[in-house]
Amino acid sequence: MVNLIWKDKKSEDPKVFPPNFFRAFENYIFNFNEKLDKTKTSKFWSNKLFWGDSLEVLYFLINNYEEKIDLIYIDPPFFSGTNYQINIEEEDKFYNSIAYFDHWNNDLDSYLQMIYERLLLFKKILSKKGLVFIHSDWHANHYIRLILDEVFGENRFVNNIIWYYYNKYSAGKKNLPRAHDTILVYSNSSKYTFNEIRIPRKKPRKQLMRVNVEGVLKNVKDKKGHVRYRTVTDKKLDDVWKIPCLQPASKEWTGFPTQKHHDLLERIIKLGSNEGDLIADFFCGTGTTLLAAEKLNRRWIGCDISEYSIYLTRKRILDYHNKNQVEYPFEIYTHLNEEKRILIESGFFQKKISIRRKK
Ligand SMILES: C[S@@+](CC[C@H](N)C(=O)[O-])C[C@H]1O[C@@H](n2cnc3c(N)ncnc32)[C@H](O)[C@@H]1O
Repeated sequence: MVNLIWKDKKSEDPKVFPPNFFRAFENYIFNFNEKLDKTKTSKFWSNKLFWGDSLEVLYFLINNYEEKIDLIYIDPPFFSGTNYQINIEEEDKFYNSIAYFDHWNNDLDSYLQMIYERLLLFKKILSKKGLVFIHSDWHANHYIRLILDEVFGENRFVNNIIWYYYNKYSAGKKNLPRAHDTILVYSNSSKYTFNEIRIPRKKPRKQLMRVNVEGVLKNVKDKKGHVRYRTVTDKKLDDVWKIPCLQPASKEWTGFPTQKHHDLLERIIKLGSNEGDLIADFFCGTGTTLLAAEKLNRRWIGCDISEYSIYLTRKRILDYHNKNQVEYPFEIYTHLNEEKRILIESGFFQKKISIRRKK
């Protein structure tokens, strides 16, 4: 077994958080209860959005959520060397800020330690039927795969999904345009949820008809002994996914850098979970995973460190709740330090704010 070593690699530094370290500062339970069908389990669950560092949130959750989460997707910083800048229009104020940091001063060791600590905790909270989907790109995906082998075991590798986004401009005179990200999939046991997905073919295709006779596939023949064909219009989804990058013209577009396409997350959730399962995203950005989970009737836990992400995720989920009959209420949690208290009390989350990636 090959192990990846970096400076100051350490496996665990268990932190214990008091049970009320993260507290709900907004909840949509009380208004919601009237709408709930009390015969369903939904009244016992509310979806949870955490505003805070994912490691702290994981340590906070660990005691109550051991083996409870059925699918984890993360789209963390990729070690891209960029801090993503944004322009903000907040009622009558305009200012610039950083959406999130991904610079690292070239310190790959710190980046790998950040990923490693979180993956170790994912292993603990993932249910036995669960899958993790770790999104990354060429900057660090080769290291992340080795870390996943170490944490989950080489034999728990499920797929290396290539997300081919054909519509993103990529310069580069001395290399081919870079047009894909990688989503590594690992399971927590051999009995994980995996639903077949079929996608339409470009053109219908004639295919030999076959039957299974005592374990052997045989061609179906007509009375004259001629093989029979059928026309197929779809095919089994493989591990190369051609899905565009989200464009500003889309009604889902929030202006936040690196927002992922909703089709990508809907596909992941359909593939690796069933209705009522618990989905988590610990770097949720604009909440694409959580919204997809909401639409597909899964329960969810989300987390992000940035107030702009929490602003956008909250808004997307509430807009969806206002237009649709939904199964579960939701709550927003944080560890209320002075800075956060001031921001919440300023009405930041209720303001009309528009956020755009700085060109
Ligand atoms: C690539 S974006 C996620 C985009 C998201 N998939 C979407 O569709 O909108 C990465 C997110 O990770 C968040 N992040 C970075 N470091 C974090 C940390 N330590 N804990 C929690 N969130 C973090 C950033 O604020 C950013 O929103």
